[in-house]
Amino acid sequence: MSPPPSPDDDALPPDEEVVIRQAEQADLLDVFRLERSTFPQPWPFSAFESFLGERGFLVAQSGTSPAIVGYVVSDTTPNYGRDIGHVKDLAVHPDARGRGLGRTLLRRALGTLASDGSALVKLEVRTTNDAAIALYRSEGFEPLRRIPRYYADGEDAFVMVLDLAEWDDSPLDGNDSGGRTRESRGA
Ligand SMILES: CC(C)(COP(=O)(O)OP(=O)(O)OC[C@H]1O[C@@H](n2cnc3c(N)ncnc32)[C@H](O)[C@@H]1OP(=O)(O)O)[C@@H](O)C(=O)NCCC(=O)NCCS
Repeated sequence: MSPPPSPDDDALPPDEEVVIRQAEQADLLDVFRLERSTFPQPWPFSAFESFLGERGFLVAQSGTSPAIVGYVVSDTTPNYGRDIGHVKDLAVHPDARGRGLGRTLLRRALGTLASDGSALVKLEVRTTNDAAIALYRSEGFEPLRRIPRYYADGEDAFVMVLDLAEWDDSPLDGNDSGGRTRESRGA
């Protein structure tokens, strides 16, 4: 798990517009830098390249530097009429955390997976990643099972699943570009 969020709230001014859009080639270096500074075992650059064009690969772009302040990678796998979505990667820049961006990225990805036909969505998360687990739980994900030593450093993962038929996809207080005006949602 990455270091705790920075207390420097000035890094992303309160009125800063954040746009969520599909990832493009030009974003990949920023995405990769954020990945490397976030995760102990980061994806290689080529992994992000392979998801270019995927509707569930989204970035959060701010008007300031760094331009890319978050991303989510997700896709849908056909599964005999009950397609399965997979949230594979999600990160928000430490200076931009705690302002609804992670939830907004996740919800945009879930909306894309739903419109692409996913019935269920799964993800894996480190069992010590309290912030991410709280976010996923508050969107309706439930732990399905624990995978011992899933990560290369030996940590276990929870597999969490969400039935999209039961997911509340109503907008967050009318703001879908950064979530700052959303109502608080308990975990
Ligand atoms: C997990 C992560 C994406 C959350 O992004 P964020 O923009 O800070 O999250 P949000 O501001 O949208 O918060 C959404 C919810 O997450 C949970 N959450 C966020 N930060 C938290 C923290 N420090 N402690 C506990 N819960 C936290 C809360 O449930 C929060 O809802 P609330 O604001 O109604 O209480 C971000 O912390 C991150 O990038 N972490 C490192 C990478 C990572 O762990 N990715 C997930 C891999 S599975």
